[in-house]
Amino acid sequence: MCAASLYPVRPEVVARSFTDEAAYKAMYQQSVINPDGFWREQARRLDWIKPFTKVKQTSFDDHHVDIKWFADGTLNASYNCLDRHLEARGEQVAIIWEGDDPSAQRLITYRELHEEVCRFANALRGQDVHRGDVVTIYMPMIPEAVVAMLACARIGAIHSVVFGGFSPDALAGRIADCRSKVVITADEGLRGGKRVPLKANVDEALTNPDTYSVNKVIVCKRTGGDIKWHSHRDIWYEDLLKVAGSICAPKEMGAEEPLFLLYTSGSTGKPKGVVHTTGGYLLYASLTHERVFDYRPGEVYWCTADVGWVTGHSYIVYGPLANGATTLLFEGIPSYPDMTRISKIIDKHGVNILYTAPTAIRAMMAQGRAPVEGADGSSLRLLGSVGEPINPEAWHWYYENIGRERCPIVDTWWQTETGGILITPLPGATSLKPGSASRPFFGVQPALVDNLGNLIEGAGEGNLVIIDSWPGQARSLHGDHDRFVDTYFKTFKGMYFTGDGARRDEDGYYWITGRVDDVLNVSGHRMGTAEIESAMVAHPQVAEAAVVGVPHDVKGQGIYVYVTLNDGVSASEALRQELKAWIRREIGPIATPDVIQWAPGLPKTRSGKIMRRILRKISVGEYDGLGDISTLADPSVVQSLINIHRGMQ
Ligand code: WT7
Repeated sequence: MCAASLYPVRPEVVARSFTDEAAYKAMYQQSVINPDGFWREQARRLDWIKPFTKVKQTSFDDHHVDIKWFADGTLNASYNCLDRHLEARGEQVAIIWEGDDPSAQRLITYRELHEEVCRFANALRGQDVHRGDVVTIYMPMIPEAVVAMLACARIGAIHSVVFGGFSPDALAGRIADCRSKVVITADEGLRGGKRVPLKANVDEALTNPDTYSVNKVIVCKRTGGDIKWHSHRDIWYEDLLKVAGSICAPKEMGAEEPLFLLYTSGSTGKPKGVVHTTGGYLLYASLTHERVFDYRPGEVYWCTADVGWVTGHSYIVYGPLANGATTLLFEGIPSYPDMTRISKIIDKHGVNILYTAPTAIRAMMAQGRAPVEGADGSSLRLLGSVGEPINPEAWHWYYENIGRERCPIVDTWWQTETGGILITPLPGATSLKPGSASRPFFGVQPALVDNLGNLIEGAGEGNLVIIDSWPGQARSLHGDHDRFVDTYFKTFKGMYFTGDGARRDEDGYYWITGRVDDVLNVSGHRMGTAEIESAMVAHPQVAEAAVVGVPHDVKGQGIYVYVTLNDGVSASEALRQELKAWIRREIGPIATPDVIQWAPGLPKTRSGKIMRRILRKISVGEYDGLGDISTLADPSVVQSLINIHRGMQ
């Protein structure tokens, strides 16, 4: 590998930043040598109701995985995100909402947000929602989605936000798993000028008998489009607010009481309900938001994620609001009305910090300089990237065109399970290497291990593990602590296994190489191969399916599906299109296969395990070096798959 280019920290960035190189080194040392002392001190950034006496009580021992931080302290997350800012910055804008239509916008101050959250919290109580109940939120990117999250937090209810792009079936599965009592949605969403039938999807999801726990659906009016109404069950958000009182005392919550569940895909089985708790999560989201983005009061910060993903939870809602920031909430997509949208929003609202995903950057890059033509961009001072490794070409395009060669890029590596950013540059401390997430955040101890679990010292490549806990870490999987232990703590005993591979260079910088398990990363979204396969075999004409990821110019990875049809069914282009549409309907548009290849048989071992390694190679046309195929139950399928693949080129 050729020597990577290096971008030293610019003096003006050091001057304004919280953390320079010396401070990073000193604080990092302190954070890992004395985690109790370090986090006790950092925890002062939150307002506690009852101060904690215990800090870190964690065990990664696979017979007894137990993670607790600040366990005897109490606090309320919505109080920390709202009430405590009212005195100093009640009239400051908390949320800049930019609609899908460029002419639609709203500015919401901390005082206004506080009032609406209190009203809606009272309304939820009126619907018999109380501490520990789960509320499913299936909303477009509108301020009411944030209100719904914070209102749950205010009364101690646990929110489970489901991305609005998921299908009725996917929604039903997530509702059934956590038995939520209430679903909050909107009549329709609006994305890229198209309407998303959210309420109709909820109606369909709730025809599934497993969703019996739901007794109310609260509907926010976004488009005024036609919807069906079930008067015993459905209530307008607006009607509830009108009659709800504006005073609502925040519930005193234990630091280890759940704040939210968030479903994410694994390599096997159904999506997992990752559990995040209140104290440690909020502290970690708030501290990382301030330090990684060097956030200063008054700045306009924009994270382009959807609140349906963890990035939206930690870096649109909880981190920024806990810090009293102005956070921009964008309803639309970067390509609507055209690819200049991101630049236009930056100039319109004077955005200082932009946090987006490599897939969005590559989509802009495909149009050369056009996405920034005519834009000013002078408000920007820092850029962030998240969701997948950023390829150096995209990094440079981002740096030169969006950042005008002035703005550092923080390439932040983390996961739904980590709650917040774990490996990242700090703008004032870290020289940048395009494509490297660089070094650990305070308190985070990454390591590399080989497949036998032996630690790799110095420069090298291996499986990325974290050897001790940090406050933002997930505590469990909803209703299945055993699966939590099996998934993250059994592969390499005594360590948290991330599922990613990484390389560490001679400067100690980490370069994430991607998932080492059967999880795909499509446009920065995690997709389990098992989930797509089981949706595919649910089609009446499909006998078997196997999914692999293939490189894709914009999405990072595309979805490649091998399909074996039932006896007597003949392959046709029409069927291929029907199967693609089937997956969209079963899971959602983000899971739409890029390629479907017919497979008379799949390469399996004699014990029936599909050899994905072989399928991965064939899908990219690497027919040589398939390794030993003599152990296959029927080695001849390999040649027929190669022939079919050739025929498709
Ligand atoms: C997986 C986690 C964390 C928020 C968004 C995704 C990949 C994430 C990076 C990065 C390389 C990255 C990893 C990780 N990933 N950020 N900066 N560089 N890879 O959350 O859906 O839980 O996915 O995304 O593979 O394991 P998620």
